[in-house]
Amino acid sequence: MRGGRPLRLSQSLLIFLGSISLFEVSRPVVAASVASSTDTVVTHPASLVNLFIGTTNGGHVFPGATLPHGMVKVGMDTDSPGNHAGYDADPIFNVTGFSQLHDDGTGGSIPLSLFKLFAFPFCGADDKFEECPTSVDDRKVLRKVLPNGSPDDFAEPGYFSTNLSTGLRVELTAMRRTAVHRYTFPKGTVNPRILVDITNDGQQSSTDPEMLLNGTTARVTGASSFAASFGPGRYRAFTCVDFKGDGFDLGAPKQSGAWLGNSGIQQSTNFQQLYFGFREQLGALFTFAPAPSAGPTTILARVGVSFISTDQACANAEAEVPAFDFDATRTAAFGAWDALLGRVQVDTKGVDKNMTELFYSSLYRTHISPADYTDENPKWKSTEPYFDSFYCNWDTYRTLYSLMALHDPEDFSRIVRGLLNIQQHEGWMPECRGATAMHFIQGGSNGDPIVAEFFVKYHEHLDVLNVSAPALYSALVADAEVQPPNWDLQGRQANIWKSLGYIPSDIWEPSGTNTKQVSRTLEYAFDDFAVSQVAKIMGNAADGTKYAQRAQNFVNTWNPNITVPGRTDIKGMMQPRFLNGTFNFTDPRHCSVNDPLQSTCFLNAVNTDGFYEGSPITYSQYVPQDTAKLIELQGGPQKFIDRLNFIFEDNYFDSTDEPSQQIPFMYHYANRPGLSTQASRQTIAQFFNTSVNGLPGNDDSGAMGSYVAFYLAGLYPLPATRQFLLSSPYFPSISFTNPILGNATTIRVTNFAGNPASGTGGQVFVKSVTIDGAPWHSNCFIDWDAFRAGSTIELEVTTDINVPCGKDASALPPSLSTGGYD
Ligand SMILES: *[C@@H]1O[C@H](CO)[C@@H](O)[C@H](O)[C@H]1NC(C)=O
Ligand SMILES: *[C@@H]1O[C@H](CO)[C@@H](O)[C@H](O)[C@H]1NC(C)=O
Ligand SMILES: *[C@@H]1O[C@H](CO)[C@@H](O)[C@H](O)[C@H]1NC(C)=O
Ligand SMILES: *[C@@H]1O[C@H](CO)[C@@H](O)[C@H](O)[C@H]1NC(C)=O
Ligand SMILES: *[C@@H]1O[C@H](CO)[C@@H](O)[C@H](O)[C@H]1NC(C)=O
Ligand SMILES: *[C@@H]1O[C@H](CO)[C@@H](O)[C@H](O)[C@H]1NC(C)=O
Ligand SMILES: *[C@@H]1O[C@H](CO)[C@@H](O)[C@H](O)[C@H]1NC(C)=O
Ligand SMILES: *[C@@H]1O[C@H](CO)[C@@H](O)[C@H](O)[C@H]1NC(C)=O
Ligand SMILES: *[C@@H]1O[C@H](CO)[C@@H](O)[C@H](O)[C@H]1NC(C)=O
Ligand SMILES: *[C@@H]1O[C@H](CO)[C@@H](O)[C@H](O)[C@H]1NC(C)=O
Repeated sequence: MRGGRPLRLSQSLLIFLGSISLFEVSRPVVAASVASSTDTVVTHPASLVNLFIGTTNGGHVFPGATLPHGMVKVGMDTDSPGNHAGYDADPIFNVTGFSQLHDDGTGGSIPLSLFKLFAFPFCGADDKFEECPTSVDDRKVLRKVLPNGSPDDFAEPGYFSTNLSTGLRVELTAMRRTAVHRYTFPKGTVNPRILVDITNDGQQSSTDPEMLLNGTTARVTGASSFAASFGPGRYRAFTCVDFKGDGFDLGAPKQSGAWLGNSGIQQSTNFQQLYFGFREQLGALFTFAPAPSAGPTTILARVGVSFISTDQACANAEAEVPAFDFDATRTAAFGAWDALLGRVQVDTKGVDKNMTELFYSSLYRTHISPADYTDENPKWKSTEPYFDSFYCNWDTYRTLYSLMALHDPEDFSRIVRGLLNIQQHEGWMPECRGATAMHFIQGGSNGDPIVAEFFVKYHEHLDVLNVSAPALYSALVADAEVQPPNWDLQGRQANIWKSLGYIPSDIWEPSGTNTKQVSRTLEYAFDDFAVSQVAKIMGNAADGTKYAQRAQNFVNTWNPNITVPGRTDIKGMMQPRFLNGTFNFTDPRHCSVNDPLQSTCFLNAVNTDGFYEGSPITYSQYVPQDTAKLIELQGGPQKFIDRLNFIFEDNYFDSTDEPSQQIPFMYHYANRPGLSTQASRQTIAQFFNTSVNGLPGNDDSGAMGSYVAFYLAGLYPLPATRQFLLSSPYFPSISFTNPILGNATTIRVTNFAGNPASGTGGQVFVKSVTIDGAPWHSNCFIDWDAFRAGSTIELEVTTDINVPCGKDASALPPSLSTGGYD
């Protein structure tokens, strides 16, 4: 990918805004943008979501049924190696069951995927109860494959269906804590059988399973303990399963019993209850009577889940899906998604259909995690919301919550309350968390920029959103100041950070691992920046100054003398530093695709290099709060542009990892917004598309989804600030409706002329901006005020890539060292 040929900055500064365009001032109403072209209105955005993007090749995307931020995420599990979200789109993989809980786009070990159901039209060789191949390895079957080679699977928000090679059809839908399954057996099935699996989670990590089954009602309750996915803990989960005939009275099961490994044990009529100690594989198996009519037998299963008790799992199911109404549940789930996604409206005129699909699919994936586990927290009692599956905040803080701030402040506020509640009970906000267990920290204390983002944008609405400012500030200060017993799981290595202003390579403290010292230094600096922004708004000027100073500590790991081998012009790098102030050396290419040693920088690498999931070259661009200072350190705007070009041309840009996310937009700070527009559009063209392998890596709990949604909206956020970097949207207009602020904000391109397929060139470079009809002084950023007021932002675009940000330095996006954010 090319960054385009740069102009010298001195030249570009001479290009003034030629004339102030006087576009017709339109009313700030959401319908206005679409009223003029009714054929291009998106009426049901949920129907445009493609849930299969990123469901093979390591995207780990969850394509099953869930509500927005629902706890239950019911989906199909396959035996593929990358089945972190259960599913793989490649039909060579066999189906092992339909389980109730998943995460979306995560790494680590396979999370959740527990309490699988499975159904047999015909069991074993002789169709005998005892011969059923019940173990996870022996029961699995292939899906039906369509003539075009793809599996016969379908999904839309809140619904999933598949046809298996056995002739069975499976459909799934969900409420927050309850899944509903519909099994349609092939015509002629004499003994429709359904299995409940208590033990096989994604890691097969079960201990202490227990199960009760009632041979009259066919109710199964069960529980087991399982391993966390990215941390040392374990968790216990509970389920409650009931069955019902779809359109006929199912009656009592013909046969019922437990299975252990591969043998079904039929229970006698009086044998109602089973208890098991350690069992590797255990569950219940039922044979039902077929439907009395000539048609196929269709059986519904309602599966409640809880982290508290089996009683609560049953209560959840009874309350959420009282009548087992599959279609009503599906309609409600789809409706919830349609309403939420519909808050963002695009005009599709002149836009490739698949771009609209990419946009809504990406937006969809930003509302899968974190998951609303309210009333399901086993660790303490609270009336506050409880959210889980923060996996991890390091991934999502950069773009996901800023997107939420634009259209979904209620969910955002409840997530923030959940983070604050965790801090009040555990001492620190989570950086990473799954299945109620603390997970490993990847960078800093990345709950900080999330709650700060909320506060900066909604501090005038805390009453209606039920968020306590003192609680929020205490949580930030605890992260910033108090060293936890184990900084691998929560908080920061705060003491040395406070005394030294960086994390040295050669200090070994007992309470955490001595790795990723440089990337942690950079993350801590950004986290402190987030604290400073909140302090200032709260009127705490002293803290505002203190934390803003700490936010500048990133300079402490800058070694001005390091160059890239063969490129002496690329000078100055973030580097590991010793306690005594001298630097150690890490090759700038380390962990990049050009690394001669081909090292990895993941958590499990016992590394002394100082960097996490990114090269020194990447991290040398990672100071979002103060890019102006970075430009100074790198030798001025032209050197900075040269370095960005070098990053793209020599393949140091890593689209799979979050520290690279801002890089395509960084030309803005050197007054070359056209180059950002082009680099960001080339990034989309090269790495993100609507195919099943359309993600370059994991979705990371919607981190990549929110990143793509912002790029397509022509925006890039800086969390915990009022700043949005501005480019051109891929649509003639895009509107964000905000239910708390009351009004919709519309960004409209007055002379929209389509999107260049490769991302290169085109009439896409922002030349002038008006906000509610008044000229705005920058082509490079807009302020939160425009969204708060529900403004109409009108952009004029040009084919001239050399457009500057505006007339003078005030048109450049704010940076800390140039007095920004005050
Ligand atoms: C899937 O199952 C089929 C039939 O049971 C078997 O032939 C095939 O090898 C399995 N595929 C994989 C990838 O294990
Ligand atoms: C499965 O088969 C049914 C019945 O033939 C059909 O209606 C459906 O479209 C098929 N595909 C999926 C994914 O459900
Ligand atoms: C099974 O359920 C029936 C109906 O609710 C109940 O009467 C019976 O006591 C249950 N059996 C056991 C062992 O709980
Ligand atoms: C705030 O609390 C009130 C009163 O409990 C409730 O009605 C309202 O829905 C809450 N708002 C949010 C966004 O949770
Ligand atoms: C960089 O090089 C200059 C000139 O040789 C030297 O004075 C300075 O101490 C070096 N800085 C570091 C951090 O090594
Ligand atoms: C600084 O510390 C490092 C690592 O402990 C050591 O190798 C180096 O010699 C020290 N340098 C000075 C000047 O003390
Ligand atoms: C200094 O860097 C080298 C190369 O990465 C590494 O092997 C060594 O362990 C580092 N020294 C310390 C004290 O971190
Ligand atoms: C789609 O994106 C993937 C992942 O980045 C990439 O490997 C693939 O080449 C892209 N496909 C197309 C047709 O652009
Ligand atoms: C959309 O389709 C066009 C034409 O087939 C293709 O060039 C483009 O890469 C696709 N874009 C996405 C995001 O899939
Ligand atoms: C929404 O916009 C209208 C028209 O500009 C304005 O009168 C109203 O105050 C705005 N509402 C809110 C909640 O800002």
